[in-house]
Amino acid sequence: MPFQKLKPEIKTIIENENLSVDHRLSQVCEVLKENIPYYDWVGFYFKNGDKEELKLRSFAGEPTDHTIIPFGKGICGQVAVSNENFVVPDVKAQNNYIACSINVKAEIVVPLFLNGENVGQIDIDSHTPDPFSKEDEAFLQWVNEEVAEILKAPSA
Ligand code: SME
Repeated sequence: MPFQKLKPEIKTIIENENLSVDHRLSQVCEVLKENIPYYDWVGFYFKNGDKEELKLRSFAGEPTDHTIIPFGKGICGQVAVSNENFVVPDVKAQNNYIACSINVKAEIVVPLFLNGENVGQIDIDSHTPDPFSKEDEAFLQWVNEEVAEILKAPSA
């Protein structure tokens, strides 16, 4: 698992103040997708202003129609209200699931906290069945903590 090896690479992207926050978020998505074979789509959704919905901010992989997701809907919308990681080994077994592609077999969504508030999430789709472990959860929590640091800046 290349998680430990990827951490310095992600830190370098996050700390690159020459790039906009959106550019850095896109690069983080790309690095995760390109280096972890079972990460086939990687995106960051954030609360859309005052609305009870998520908005897609950055992603790597196929474009999705689901750029806005109401709170409570799908795996992402459920995480927006539960504040907890959601690991889905088999998307077919979920009733409250929004399909983005027929190739997706599994999904993991990890909330992103800013000053203790659930403001968004990282969402990973996989074409591999049941690929996610506790290590993925811990790693993605770490990624979100790093991203939260750049979101604290007033211009973010
Ligand atoms: N499958 C997600 C929707 C977002 S896509 O995976 C990009 C869900 O059920 O919330």
